[in-house]
Amino acid sequence: MENSEILLRDSLKAVNLFGKDLICTRDWKMEEIKAVLELAKDMKKNRFSSRYTGVLKNRTFFMFFYNPSVRTRQSFECAATELGGHAQYLEPGGMRLKTKKSAGETIEDAARIMSRYACGIGIRILENKLSCYGEGENLLREYARWADIPVVSMAHDKYHPCQGLADIMGLQEHLGESLKGKKLLLKWGHGALARSWCSVQEALLLYSRFGMSITLAYPEGYDLDPDVVEYARQRCKENEQKFEITHNPVHGYKNADVVYVRNWMSPNAYRDGEFRKEEEIEKALRYADWICDTDKMKSTNNALFIHPMPIDRGHEVADEVASGPRSIIYDVGENRLHVQKAIMALTMSDLIPDGR
Ligand code: CP
Repeated sequence: MENSEILLRDSLKAVNLFGKDLICTRDWKMEEIKAVLELAKDMKKNRFSSRYTGVLKNRTFFMFFYNPSVRTRQSFECAATELGGHAQYLEPGGMRLKTKKSAGETIEDAARIMSRYACGIGIRILENKLSCYGEGENLLREYARWADIPVVSMAHDKYHPCQGLADIMGLQEHLGESLKGKKLLLKWGHGALARSWCSVQEALLLYSRFGMSITLAYPEGYDLDPDVVEYARQRCKENEQKFEITHNPVHGYKNADVVYVRNWMSPNAYRDGEFRKEEEIEKALRYADWICDTDKMKSTNNALFIHPMPIDRGHEVADEVASGPRSIIYDVGENRLHVQKAIMALTMSDLIPDGR
């Protein structure tokens, strides 16, 4: 048996994730996260192996998309197909669910009946579909409360666990298994898309747990959730790594091993129950010096460039960096498929072949 197979077998034996929700990786132990990553790597290497193609045979995964998606919808649909199952795309607007403004079915009733049909429920809800920060997380947790099947975040206002796991898998592929001590610049990008906090907050949670040294850079007025920042600061401290915040657009590049760029909204994006997208875009476009370009990248340690996508090219990052030789955006995008297959196999099937 190869070393990688022994590692995979041992990491799978150490955990039992069957039936577990994935709303935030904070809810999962490190050995559980590592088991997902080990399995995802094996699934990437043996993509259509008969070990995996029947794991969700005859099972259906429900996906509610309140917001648009390219990668998440496509990768979850492919994941279900490759595991022998089916992913059903659901428009929440077509489900007569109860909302603050209209009568309809409660989450309790919807979640309990869906549990009689499917093997799991994925939900995306963020940005303009919410009236305040935290509402999306509450909705996912309410589904998880009533569903007897796993609920998986496909990106909500606070976190994007599948994206964070795909990032870590990509970094390990390029930098080696141990990320401890690697220097990360996680920076705000000038941009016209008014993006959610979910991917960067998830990155802070996971990158700090994996022992990276973190410089978080953003203009004054773009603070992230203080609870998430404090969590990351504590994990860096436990791992004896630096955690710093800067408001300087060029600080943090020096000797960085990884540069992660993403636009995010200011804490004022929700006011009086409204999502102020146009205001956020107008404000963000004033910070043209926050673009990540080849000049700034020159002072790094030949850093990898990472971004969860979609990219606002020419605003967040210059084309030469996004499409340059150190960009791993497509590897990470591909890894969404493999980590989601691993998550689905471990949480939604009792057929994963580890002898359990
Ligand atoms: N990164 C990500 O979740 O992409 P989509 O919004 O296209 O799904």
